[in-house]
This record gives sequence, C-alpha cells and structure tokens, in this order.
Amino acid sequence: MIVVAGSSSGKLARKISQCIGSDVAEIERRRFPDGELYLRIKNDLRGADVILVSTTKGDENVVETMLLLNAVRECEPSTLTAVIPYFGYARQHMRYKEGEPVSSKVWTYLMDHFADAIVSVDIHDEQTLSYSSKPFMNVSITDSIASHYGDKHIHYVVSPDDGGSKRAMEIAGKMHTDHFYIDKRRIDSNSVEMKLPDIDIRGKNLLIVDDIISTGGTIIKAVKLLRERGAAKIYVSAIHGLFIGDSEFRIREIADDLAVTDTVESDSSKISIAEELVNKMKGEAI
Ligand code: R5P
Repeated sequence: MIVVAGSSSGKLARKISQCIGSDVAEIERRRFPDGELYLRIKNDLRGADVILVSTTKGDENVVETMLLLNAVRECEPSTLTAVIPYFGYARQHMRYKEGEPVSSKVWTYLMDHFADAIVSVDIHDEQTLSYSSKPFMNVSITDSIASHYGDKHIHYVVSPDDGGSKRAMEIAGKMHTDHFYIDKRRIDSNSVEMKLPDIDIRGKNLLIVDDIISTGGTIIKAVKLLRERGAAKIYVSAIHGLFIGDSEFRIREIADDLAVTDTVESDSSKISIAEELVNKMKGEAI
C-alpha cells in the first residue's frame, strides 16, 4: 500500500501513512509559464494499492486532485482509493434554482471515472454519495473530538443547528454527558438568526461542534448567545475549519479554545482524524 498526497493534505497523508505502515509517494510539482500545474509521481505504482489523500478546498486543489487521480491511474495500480477529507462543492449537491449545476455531482463523476472507491469525511450532504457508481463511504468523525475534550469537564455538547444534532448526540454519548441544539435560521450566506432552548446553562462548560466553520458567523453568534445565558467555559470545535477572512482570529478572541480537525490544515487543526479514519475504513473493508 502507498499513499499519494495532494498538496492540501500533506500532514494528514503522512499521519495516515504512519497508521497503515506505508510510504508516501514523491511528487514533482511545478507551474508552466502560463500558470498551469505540472505534476509527476516519481514512484512506481504499478500493481500497488494506492490511497490518494487530497482535500478539495478551492479550485486549485480540485484541479490538482483530478490530475493526481489520472496520474495514479496511468501508473496502473492494483486499486485506487480516493480519500477526500474535505469534499469541496458538496454544498451544491442539488439544483436549488433552474440553470444551476449540481456541483458535487460533477466532481463525483470525475472521481468515479478514475478511482475504485471514494471516501469522504463528514460530507455536507450524503446525497452526493448517490452520484457514484463505485463504493463511496462517508466517515463521520466523533471519537477524535470526544477524546480531545475528555478532560475538560464538558456539561453539554452543543450543535449550532438542527442538522448537526446527531453528531452532538454521538459525541456527548462518548463523553457521557448531555447535548442540545440551537434553533438556527439562515437569513443569507452571511447572517443567521438563533434561538436557544430553555435549558439552564449558568456555570456550565460547553463544547460547540459544527461540521464546517466558513465565515464564522454561525459560531460567533452561538458563542455570544451562550455567554449571555451565563455559560462558564465555551470550547469551539468543527470538523472542517475553512476560516474565511479573519474568522479564525475572531472566534479565538471570544471562545475559551478553538480546535478543528486536520481535514483542512490550519493553525487550529489540533485534532487529527488519521487514526479514526483508518480504523473506520478498515471496519468497512474499503
Ligand atoms: C450549515 O449547514 C453548516 O452546518 C455550518 O453551520 C455553516 O456552514 C457554517 O457557516 P458559517 O461559518 O459561514 O456561518
């Protein structure tokens, strides 16, 4: 087995390779004078089981991932599994208005063409899985988060919206604590309205967990509301920290701590998904 790393996932790919006891392939990368990407895999992958680890955050990473998928396939491996830790464009998993593309379908078709199996991590909507004709597994990360906060005496795991309540419940279950979710309504892509449930959180330690932190609007509003209600410590976590603009800094200013996973690498990627991902992939024999 050998791991091929997209440039967006170098550290995570190395950790995954350590968990499975394999090497990471060497890749030559440079830009053509017109800015287009050139890459070449230097290892001989013929007959190997290859795991490509590449987050598709931003168009450059999407293009690189597609080139890597083809480069690996051209090497004639035995199997190719595409692990996409953050699956970009998955929010457009359906047509909301006439004339729109189904973006996640486009990328899934392309991955499907080259890979034998696809693995995503907490993809925005599992509808995307149905666009693949190959085995497509979506891994939900809960153990790594629960164990990261194991010594923080958390009283409630909080989801900032209804959609994340199952994740909050599972993490709370693993931490032997309680959970609740906030009633959130999105006004537009930059603003949301929130209503807290009628629970006494005075003096309690809270762990807010979301799937994605993008502009930070959701988390910042949630932290402010929970503070107003008298919460003690407020820890903020998420699977994917996209941190648009200065949101990482703004969240750190108001939360007691900010720790996201390494599906998207940032200064706040303090929780590695590598071990949990590898264990869950082994469990599904993918
Ligand atoms: C929404 O469905 C997601 O779970 C996140 O709450 C959302 O994507 C966060 O976005 P932002 O950080 O821009 O509020």
